[in-house]
Amino acid sequence: MSSLRESLARFPRLELAGGPTPLEKLERLSARLGRDIHVKRDDATPFALGGNKVRKLEFLAADALRAGADTLVTAGAIQSNHVRQTAAVAAKLGLRCMALLENPIGTADHNYLSNGNRLLLDLFGTEVEVVANLDTADELLQQTGERLLREGRKPYLVPIGGSNALGALGYVRAGLELAEQIRHSGQRFAAVVLASGSAGTHAGLAVALADALPELPVIGVTVSRTDAAQRPKVEGLIQRTLELLGQDTAKAPKVELWDEYFAPRYGEPNAGTLDALRLLASHEGLLLDPVYTGKAMAGLLDGVARQRFAQQGPLLFLHTGGSPALFAYHPAG
Ligand SMILES: Cc1ncc(COP(=O)(O)O)c(C=O)c1O
Repeated sequence: MSSLRESLARFPRLELAGGPTPLEKLERLSARLGRDIHVKRDDATPFALGGNKVRKLEFLAADALRAGADTLVTAGAIQSNHVRQTAAVAAKLGLRCMALLENPIGTADHNYLSNGNRLLLDLFGTEVEVVANLDTADELLQQTGERLLREGRKPYLVPIGGSNALGALGYVRAGLELAEQIRHSGQRFAAVVLASGSAGTHAGLAVALADALPELPVIGVTVSRTDAAQRPKVEGLIQRTLELLGQDTAKAPKVELWDEYFAPRYGEPNAGTLDALRLLASHEGLLLDPVYTGKAMAGLLDGVARQRFAQQGPLLFLHTGGSPALFAYHPAG
């Protein structure tokens, strides 16, 4: 059987996310907590205000071009970072982008409806359709694709969050990059913590780290679901990603989820989210976001306070981006 790296190299990929993102120590936060915290800066991918999705889109957009598509069709919340990055990729490649958008928190707030990521969609020239909800997103995407086909266009469907097996390859690649950086750093990390949403980031990273650094726990902090609802999503995607890569599915990594930090629901920050966001901004000049990384960091901070991590030693936070949503949520208060 080929190595993971060899299997990955067989998939066409566009260069969109730049070189490796930095791995940095958060000095003042570490001093304050009495525990070393390092951050992998995927918020700093150099494209359209950064974030994790561009790594998935390197593989998905390559596939769209191979298929001769002229339109990327995707879906997400009005403030979706995924939709913003998909629209930016479409613009760069000379494709059109159609986005189905929902308002998951039912707000009429002007900033939520028009600022932040939503403002950027207009700059990228996105065709937007507002839908009541995305409970059946795959069907809605399918129907939209069929409609575009009838109109003579060539749609390529990108699932919510770019989270199918092909998209998850972006985080298999990121995980191998991270493993390399960890080896160079000489640190022995106690865990990697990240936000777990549509699950492609979590699944891809878990596959890579299980292969390259099997002793390192990967903890997904859920942003929208209970452990019971999120687990089958992550496990299923890990299986499909290993299958796509032709790797041994019996070697699927164990999935670890913390689901205490997403309440009251997806897209709505809680007090812990906002505290984490303000702490990182005021101590490190580092911008988290109110929907994903604020919740994941709240989990990390609580995990330190309550000694939830099984091992001693430094912790690594995967910063997946999202700061454009700050202008929609204005959480400074
Ligand atoms: C900033 C940010 N972090 C994390 C995630 C979660 O990644 P995934 O959907 O791959 O679980 C997203 C998804 O949209 C995101 O925008």
